[in-house]
Amino acid sequence: MRQAGRSLPEYRALRGEGSILDAIRNPDLAAEITLQPVRRYGVDAAILFSDIVVPAAAIGFGVDVTPGVGPVVTEPFRSADDLGRLRAFEPDIDAPYVGETVRRVVAELGATPLIGFAGAPFTVASYLIEGQPSRTYGRTKAMLHGDPELWSQLLDRLADLAIASLLAQVEAGASAIQLFDSWAGALSPADYDTYVRPHSAAVLDSVADLDVPRNHFGVGTGELLTLMGDAGADVVGVDWRVPLDVARERVPGKAVQGNLDPAVCLAPWEVVADRTRDVLRRNAGRPGHIFNLGHGVLPELDPGVLKQVVDLVHEEGRSDGG
Ligand code: CP3
Repeated sequence: MRQAGRSLPEYRALRGEGSILDAIRNPDLAAEITLQPVRRYGVDAAILFSDIVVPAAAIGFGVDVTPGVGPVVTEPFRSADDLGRLRAFEPDIDAPYVGETVRRVVAELGATPLIGFAGAPFTVASYLIEGQPSRTYGRTKAMLHGDPELWSQLLDRLADLAIASLLAQVEAGASAIQLFDSWAGALSPADYDTYVRPHSAAVLDSVADLDVPRNHFGVGTGELLTLMGDAGADVVGVDWRVPLDVARERVPGKAVQGNLDPAVCLAPWEVVADRTRDVLRRNAGRPGHIFNLGHGVLPELDPGVLKQVVDLVHEEGRSDGG
């Protein structure tokens, strides 16, 4: 999840103006930003400061991240001719700053694990095709239904970008990976199964032998949780729309991550505490629960509230032996 976001004053101070991609290209800055939430909140893992469009940007597809908007593409992907703009990604040559940031962060973190990540083929494709964030994914769906052959070739290329990126992050020292299919919830289960799951499975399979836990997450994916688990995840991320005990039934044998509603954190503390305990109660002390928000931190959130949530989860975790 985008965690640090604009909610941390120390993040805003360091990041400055301009594209987030510039901050990501600077290992000094990116390493420091990765460590900020760990220091501030005392969380049990760090997530690399990067973005899901970094590989596509690094091979020159022409994508940037506009503050307050998200990824935008100058010339969106429209036809088979555009496949030529998606050459193979060579992390050491195209984006050496990512590996450098990972190495620096891991050296600083000691025993705290670093989570590396990539965008899943569907979610990255949706940005490349729409050219900007979309509510309907109209063009994306038009392509997958109207030209399944081109769709499959596009997703194969994007799977290759994600695979190369994840392998490089793990080689540099990341000890878990997360594959973000943030917008997969826009699809019906049948369409997800046919047009998306095989490509995400290829990504998750490619890191299966590396002995790092593989976490797979999307928003609004209640009806897709079982299929996302079947794609090869060890941990399935759950947003706040499905209660955690129900989510567990949909992914038998897998660990789960989630699922406090980030907007609940804007409510009075008693409500936040109550909802935090509710998530823990629904997990009922079962092993394999990573407590997290159901999606990213809202920029207007007081960081002090998140610190209280982290402390409460740690206290409750100790008292139930989890
Ligand atoms: O927050 C962190 O430090 C973790 C690193 C991280 C970022 N992006 C940095 C970032 C991670 C894990 C991501 C993943 C990402 N990026 C996803 C998948 C996870 C999720 O939240 O669903 C997606 C969909 C993106 C694409 C993206 N990048 C969007 C939609 C936006 C929001 C634009 C906005 O300002 O509202 C971004 C920008 C972005 N990437 C920010 C951060 C911290 C926002 C703050 C900034 O621009 O400085």
